[in-house]
Amino acid sequence: MKTHTILMPLDMHLHLRDGVMLENVAPLTAYSFSGGIIMPNLVPPVNTLEDVKAYRARIMAAVPNDFFEPYMTLFYRNYDKAFLQSVADEITAIKLYPAGITTNSEGGVSSFDIEEMRETLEAMSDLEIPLCVHGETDGFVMDREAEFMSIYELLAKNFPKLKIIMEHITTKDAVEMLDKYENLYATITVHHLLLTLDDVIGGMMMPHLFCKPIAKRPEDLDALLSVALSAHPKVMFGSDSAPHPQHKKESCGCAAGVFTAPIALQLLCEIFEQYDKLDNLQDFVSDNAQRIYGICPEFKEITLEKRPFVVPEHYSSVVPMYAGEAINWAIASVD
Ligand code: DOR
Ligand code: ZN
Repeated sequence: MKTHTILMPLDMHLHLRDGVMLENVAPLTAYSFSGGIIMPNLVPPVNTLEDVKAYRARIMAAVPNDFFEPYMTLFYRNYDKAFLQSVADEITAIKLYPAGITTNSEGGVSSFDIEEMRETLEAMSDLEIPLCVHGETDGFVMDREAEFMSIYELLAKNFPKLKIIMEHITTKDAVEMLDKYENLYATITVHHLLLTLDDVIGGMMMPHLFCKPIAKRPEDLDALLSVALSAHPKVMFGSDSAPHPQHKKESCGCAAGVFTAPIALQLLCEIFEQYDKLDNLQDFVSDNAQRIYGICPEFKEITLEKRPFVVPEHYSSVVPMYAGEAINWAIASVD
């Protein structure tokens, strides 16, 4: 049987939520990943030192049987330097959401006035705290990410030493930005390496494939595949696995988010094998992130094998991507 081994896989964009949902989903990621960047869009958002420490403790309590490093983040607002100094050792990054652009982002940034943001972003730059960004405007849905490129350029030019991560990129425009600015990096989800808008709404409307940013055009998918499969050194895997209870997905007013945590590595193997690029998967799913973030996860070895695996219909209240369908790779062992 064909097998493939990955060392210390990292999920550089992960929603673990809180309470019962945290207890349901955190073990699924902790089983097969060494660590992940934990998104702070809780209600209320994670924006104090106490919030970070307490949330980290709740995550650790939810994964008692696995070694898993939660790389914590703060929800961006204009913080002063003294505060950032006091919290720097507890966080790996700060996540910026434009106000109201996605789930629980109401308290995000409502105007990208560089002078208003300067103190915070300069302090982050000095303290070497990366800025993770949900890069969408409130424009026409297919153009939101492309319209945000001018804001990425503004940030990249004004803060050349600040590491800026363009989160869950979905467009050729974003891919092209990677080689224009030294300090711009990106995460890519597994679902955006598989889907276009056609898969989401082109036939039946598929609520479990609906997320923000929405999957785009075939040429965008090709551009994402080209940088992921070649493990472009500025690109990392970040699942954006975003669990919502089934009733919030299968209802009028479907919540945005695709739940991929338990099948992400298997799907990545399938995609990279399909294009004969399995040799590049280690860089995409771990080594690039280790280098970009300067992190050093503890040893974990995941072996996958090529055999059909039927994705469960549910993980408690959450329906995963490809529920009930067979995928081609399965996890064989975790050491
Ligand atoms: O689809 C999404 N779901 N996109 C986001 O940016 C947030 C996420 C969530 O938290 O549900
Ligand atoms: Zn997200």
